[in-house]
Amino acid sequence: MKNQNDMNIIEAMKERRSVRTFDGKGLDSEQEAKLEKAIGESGSPFGGNVSIFLRKFNLREGYKPSTYGMIKGAEDFFLLGIGSDEASALSAGYRFEQVVLKAWQLGLGTCWIAATFKGSDFDKGVEWPDGEELKVICPVGKAEKQSMKEKLTRLTLGSKNRKPFNDLFFYRDFQTAVPEDNRFREALEMLRLAPSSTNSQPWRALVDGHTVHFYYKPKSAASVLDTGIGICHFHETEKFYGHEGHFDKVSSAPVAPDDWKYLVSYQRSK
Ligand SMILES: Cc1cc2nc3c(=O)[nH]c(=O)nc-3n(C[C@H](O)[C@H](O)[C@H](O)COP(=O)(O)O)c2cc1C
Repeated sequence: MKNQNDMNIIEAMKERRSVRTFDGKGLDSEQEAKLEKAIGESGSPFGGNVSIFLRKFNLREGYKPSTYGMIKGAEDFFLLGIGSDEASALSAGYRFEQVVLKAWQLGLGTCWIAATFKGSDFDKGVEWPDGEELKVICPVGKAEKQSMKEKLTRLTLGSKNRKPFNDLFFYRDFQTAVPEDNRFREALEMLRLAPSSTNSQPWRALVDGHTVHFYYKPKSAASVLDTGIGICHFHETEKFYGHEGHFDKVSSAPVAPDDWKYLVSYQRSK
């Protein structure tokens, strides 16, 4: 991975991948300061309760999460305290993905890990605000050549692949494909590239005029959080091209196929 301070957010979304093998050197104070700044600048329009901390650990043997994958050579981890409601999960995905993309722009790799960390030492001494608990950790650092284990994890998950655009996004009804020249085409394409737990890609969307309705297909406990990550990519693309808009839960959102759940709608105003 190159250190590319001038890399724009679109390039970062296109090039980012999860990194599980790190160089073992840890972050220097300048990198730490830049990541702390990125945490401070991250935000979400969805409310809820989310706290993000950056902490150093000494995990000599690497770390095997209670879900999947193997993290090697990382000393620095983000810790996310997240409330138990939908708004908190959506905000956690939307907000922390901004930090993940910033890290990539700084030449640093990350890997979202969502699991139960009960009984782990990860948040020893951390005071989470009421209602929040540690639900995500994320190593950060310089990427090292992928280990065989990491290659195998990526292969098993099909991490390089994403579902076809026309299986995820629809136009006016839930059968019609989004036209090639539609105003939201690129923002949805960037959403499609987002990372998700087990690469499950639960996000779905329906475009209607200046509005995009977002849904998710429940796949795991992390599906709302995953969709927040995807919506972050969508909104970053909108902003990159100078568009303005806002998110609302609308009562008139079209009723989707049985197993999709409605989350929120985006209305472009400019
Ligand atoms: C919410 C979330 C949780 C994840 N949990 C894990 C995990 O426990 N272990 C792991 O090795 N990777 C984890 N990942 C990484 C995904 O497997 C990865 O994003 C996906 O396979 C797509 O690959 P990419 O990020 O390289 O594009 C997680 C990703 C997300 C977004």
